[in-house]
Amino acid sequence: MRPFPEKLVVASHNAGKVREIRDLLEPLGCGIISAAELDLPEPEETGATFEENARIKALAAAMASGFPALSDDSGLCVDALDGKPGIHSARWAGPEKDFALAMRNVEEAMQAAGATGEADRSACFVAVMCLAWPDGHTELFRGEIEGVMVWPPRGTKGFGYDPVFLPEGHERTFGEMDTAEKHGWQRGQDEALSHRARAFKLMVETGIGDV
Ligand code: IMP
Repeated sequence: MRPFPEKLVVASHNAGKVREIRDLLEPLGCGIISAAELDLPEPEETGATFEENARIKALAAAMASGFPALSDDSGLCVDALDGKPGIHSARWAGPEKDFALAMRNVEEAMQAAGATGEADRSACFVAVMCLAWPDGHTELFRGEIEGVMVWPPRGTKGFGYDPVFLPEGHERTFGEMDTAEKHGWQRGQDEALSHRARAFKLMVETGIGDV
């Protein structure tokens, strides 16, 4: 097993994601550089799974920068839509990255599929994190959180599809939670909550030697 890197590149250009990953990494005390700060190109996500895309992004950043890199490929999987938008969650927001539009597109697709009752509105968020080294070595970690889709959107915190996702066992959508609550770090919460925090926890606990 390799020791956790002292300095790494966060291989994402998504500001919301980078903010959450920085937050998660902070307690580990490692130096963080974002792909945007290094002006790294965004590789094309040509994979068919979260794992493949996470690996593409982390390897591209590690090889271009010469530092270990951590990526996150994530998305919303709606059961009534056979797992869509899934790995194409960002694309449903169009070239303007308009998530009000993306949330409406998902809701319209669910209505068209007849998914109107609460029992038909289950979904999960998935995050796969990949840690890659410049020599091509990679490690993958997957986190998931189950929940239901709500409409209309609730809350203005977070990013992406947060306002329409109500995690199981909770009364507030991710869009109504501040970051600590979404990670599962709030007082009284002793489990990682979000898909991203769960993938991260797995990485810290099982993946990578001495942290
Ligand atoms: P990608 O991993 O960069 O291909 O994009 C993932 C997309 O999934 C993001 O642009 C968001 O739309 C969505 N997504 C992933 N994680 C979250 C989250 O924690 N909250 C809300 N939306 C998310």
